[in-house]
Amino acid sequence: MKKTMVFAISITLALVFGWQVAQGDDDDDWRIGQSWKRTADVAPINNPDYVEECGDCHMAFSPGLLPARSWKKLMGGLEDHFGDNAELDPDTQTVLTQYLLDNSADSSDYRRSRKVMRSLASNQTPLRITKVPYIQHEHDEIPARMITDNIDVGSLSNCMACHQQADKGSFSERDIAIPGYGSWDD
Ligand code: HEC
Ligand code: HEC
Repeated sequence: MKKTMVFAISITLALVFGWQVAQGDDDDDWRIGQSWKRTADVAPINNPDYVEECGDCHMAFSPGLLPARSWKKLMGGLEDHFGDNAELDPDTQTVLTQYLLDNSADSSDYRRSRKVMRSLASNQTPLRITKVPYIQHEHDEIPARMITDNIDVGSLSNCMACHQQADKGSFSERDIAIPGYGSWDD
């Protein structure tokens, strides 16, 4: 190939990618090149062992909602997991830790994962998804009567109570129904 041709192709690619990255900041669903991610905001969970081991006491949280450093820390302290013992046998622990690291927010290009990462300073290692600034910010207008004072919800950690498709990685507003209140109009 001629040099000018290679140059022209590189420029075209750079423009297309640049445009997509620039569009990545807004919340609309219409972006081109994104239709393959249309239904999921974070990568859907594709590991049955993870769902079995980590989806017993609460929903299996998407790996793409926390950075690798958070999963590493959380998996290193399962014997005291938010007051519960969630210990695994060593083999399972190794395999699931690797699964979480491979699919963490910093290695995903799904849009909510990117937003999680962008909201965190590099020295922040939250052990809770609900402590991630982006997640906190998205919920700061929801009154307590709909969350903590709502017996069908209890806490913000209970994603599935309101986001009916959370287990499929979708947090889209059309899939939100707050128990006792219904859909959310802001
Ligand atoms: C024995 C029960 C149990 C098991 C098993 C368990 N957890 Fe938990 N987990 C909890 C409890 C209790 C909390 C705190 C819930 C709360 O504060 O509402 C929690 C909270 C979490 C949170 C923070 C949620 C938030 O508030 O943002 C994450 C992340 C998490 N667990 C990941 C895992 C992973 C990964 C596994 C599998 C290795 C796992 N859990 C297995 C009981 C469990
Ligand atoms: C009490 C119900 C409720 C719970 C529990 C809840 N959310 Fe939400 N969430 C909402 C509502 C309502 C909005 C829309 C807020 C707005 O647009 O102002 C929202 C917005 C979001 C958004 C942004 C969606 C968008 O379209 O921009 C994400 C991502 C999200 N929630 C993730 C989570 C995760 C992860 C959890 C669990 C750790 C969780 N939510 C728990 C009600 C809830």
